[in-house]
Amino acid sequence: MLFRPLLRTLVRPTPLLSSKQVLSVRFLSPSARLKNRTTYVRNGVITAFSLAIGVSLGLYIAQQLAENSKQTFPLSSITALEDLGPPQYGNDDDLKKCAEEIKQILGEDAVKDSDVELNHHTDNGFNPAKPLPHQRPKYVVYPTSTEQVAKVMKVVNKYSIPVVPYSGGTALEGHTYSTRPGIVLNTSKMNKILQVNVDDLDAVVQAGVGWQDLNEYLSNHEGMQNLMLGCDCGPGAHVCGMVSTNASGVSATRYGSMASNVISIRAVLADGTVIKTKHRPRKSSAGYNLTGLLVGSEGTLAIVTEVIVKLQVRPAYETVAVVQFPSVNNCTKSMASFFKTGIPLNAVELLDSDMMKCVNYSDLVTRKYENMPTLVIKIGGLNKTVVGEYIKEIKSISRANRCVMFEFAKTSEEADELFSARKNALYMMLDYAFNEISPDAKMWITDCAVPLSKLASTLEELNEMMKEYPMQHMVLGHGDANLHYDIFYTPDQYELCKEAVDRMAKLAIANEGTCSGEHGIGSGKRALLETELGKDTISMMRKLKMALDPKRLLNPDKVFKIDPLDESDE
Ligand SMILES: Cc1cc2nc3c(=O)[nH]c(=O)nc-3n(C[C@H](O)[C@H](O)[C@H](O)COP(=O)(O)OP(=O)(O)OC[C@H]3O[C@@H](n4cnc5c(N)ncnc54)[C@H](O)[C@@H]3O)c2cc1C
Ligand SMILES: *[C@@H]1O[C@H](CO)[C@@H](O)[C@H](O)[C@H]1NC(C)=O
Ligand SMILES: *[C@@H]1O[C@H](CO)[C@@H](O)[C@H](O)[C@H]1NC(C)=O
Ligand SMILES: *[C@@H]1O[C@H](CO)[C@@H](O)[C@H](O)[C@H]1NC(C)=O
Ligand SMILES: *[C@@H]1O[C@H](CO)[C@@H](O)[C@H](O)[C@H]1NC(C)=O
Ligand SMILES: *[C@@H]1O[C@H](CO)[C@@H](O)[C@H](O)[C@H]1NC(C)=O
Ligand SMILES: *[C@@H]1O[C@H](CO)[C@@H](O)[C@H](O)[C@H]1NC(C)=O
Repeated sequence: MLFRPLLRTLVRPTPLLSSKQVLSVRFLSPSARLKNRTTYVRNGVITAFSLAIGVSLGLYIAQQLAENSKQTFPLSSITALEDLGPPQYGNDDDLKKCAEEIKQILGEDAVKDSDVELNHHTDNGFNPAKPLPHQRPKYVVYPTSTEQVAKVMKVVNKYSIPVVPYSGGTALEGHTYSTRPGIVLNTSKMNKILQVNVDDLDAVVQAGVGWQDLNEYLSNHEGMQNLMLGCDCGPGAHVCGMVSTNASGVSATRYGSMASNVISIRAVLADGTVIKTKHRPRKSSAGYNLTGLLVGSEGTLAIVTEVIVKLQVRPAYETVAVVQFPSVNNCTKSMASFFKTGIPLNAVELLDSDMMKCVNYSDLVTRKYENMPTLVIKIGGLNKTVVGEYIKEIKSISRANRCVMFEFAKTSEEADELFSARKNALYMMLDYAFNEISPDAKMWITDCAVPLSKLASTLEELNEMMKEYPMQHMVLGHGDANLHYDIFYTPDQYELCKEAVDRMAKLAIANEGTCSGEHGIGSGKRALLETELGKDTISMMRKLKMALDPKRLLNPDKVFKIDPLDESDE
């Protein structure tokens, strides 16, 4: 009875305590104790005695709390997996209540749980490792604005429900698997283009706008026809997905990846707080670079709801050249020399002879090419004369590297066709595999990147290594030395293929490269990320994650492990 007030002062800050509060309990309680003591001492020895017990008990509790807090928030700069207990998510009942509350706020139509809907959001089919049967969402939620996302996240946070942000669904490494029963937040209905600031060359868009839709909008509007998003990736991808994977694509050679095309991000944090990383100017030294923090975070730190993107100016005149060489080595040497001239090439794509066989095989390209290593180059500039000068230079470099064929797309349709063939390479390969390898052939899509000077030798090593395996493969490369390795396998070759992909990434890393140039880590490459950057760097990422999302609600289990009980080896 008597130590109740004391206990209260000691225990009061505990329900939603931060680590700082827990520590302050420990250090401040003696003075609180002194104040309180004057009130109690009057009541004599017994009270004093009780008080002493109370104080010890209080201190003990405070110490325990501090101990506990040490377990979840160690006082170090990094958070190792071993420092964490397993995350505590709401149970089925909490999940139901959570969905009900979201329905009340967003309306019945914004929350779905039909089988069709759930299946559609369980697996996009690109990652060879399938989610386990229990790794399926329970609800799909469709918000339409930042405010709605904020309200949803407040409810989600209250019930501690895992949330997977999901937009175009084209990510390739199992990014959007629901590893735990929870909610998928499909942001594709947030698809408004809010502003196009022609003079500033930027646009403010809701996060679910598709890159193709934005480009189409621009090309259909007076005064904006020559503007575009400088970043392209999988057909159907949305701006938020692209921000979240730091996507690039064929134009990255010229305009950089998504990181260089984003000015500011509006996002909702795990507890529903709405933040904005920057104002609208392109130049800013105002505070931490939170834009950079969110780019590439794969939905694990915040829900991106609005983005200010840069717009690039399409060259007034542009043409496409196709150059074929006897060897890949000759291709990459030429690429390196092109870049050294300083000529602003708009794209340089490398297709190896197997890939060319596939292009020839498809009916997507009318012109047939020899099965030889090929560069497809987009060259643009002010006018035909300027571009003509560039071409002279490109041609002479190609000749010096023994090119056997150098020609231009005769018309802009032919140029478009060639580039769309490159964009649809994946579907062409699937078609080839289905018809020529086996009807149950699958394709393992993987990417890595190395410094350009190492591209040719790395490719040679990779191809040499692949000779040990019975599977066919094809190679595509972007001008930024980003390599896509696509391996065909039949279901019985799954383990073999997995091993090859793993060795491939390690080989890239050994060549000062990265296990992922643009597709990201998702659930597929967590172990490789650790090989590349080391345990401590991953623990620093985990520290950031825990600081912003202490309940581990946002896209759990992606990029790195967040649960010491997670034993999956990817
Ligand atoms: C045919 C094909 C070609 C491709 N070519 C390229 C290429 O050239 N270059 C390239 O970089 N990639 C390429 N990709 C991969 C893919 O297109 C990109 O990774 C793209 O950025 C994914 O965007 P998305 O909108 O589909 O995102 P999703 O697949 O829906 O999600 C991707 C990630 O972003 C997170 N996310 C989604 N929405 C939000 C949000 N609102 N807030 C926070 N996080 C969110 C998800 O949780 C997930 O981790 C290709 C894919 C295909 C199928
Ligand atoms: C998100 O929802 C839209 C609208 O229902 C749907 O067309 C789209 O396929 C969904 N996205 C994914 C990745 O499933
Ligand atoms: C994004 O990609 C670019 C180019 O690949 C890279 O230089 C940059 O470091 C990446 N940024 C982030 C935040 O991942
Ligand atoms: C911050 O990060 C963004 C995205 O990666 C990048 O475009 C920008 O240049 C960075 N800004 C600074 C000041 O480093
Ligand atoms: C290209 O395809 C055509 C028709 O499919 C075929 O006849 C030709 O031999 C192929 N060429 C090469 C070099 O594979
Ligand atoms: C092309 O642009 C260059 C550089 O501005 C200029 O000198 C030249 O006159 C232009 N040529 C034509 C044909 O417009
Ligand atoms: C072209 O590639 C071949 C095979 O790698 C190599 O032997 C040759 O030296 C290369 N030619 C030039 C000009 O680099």
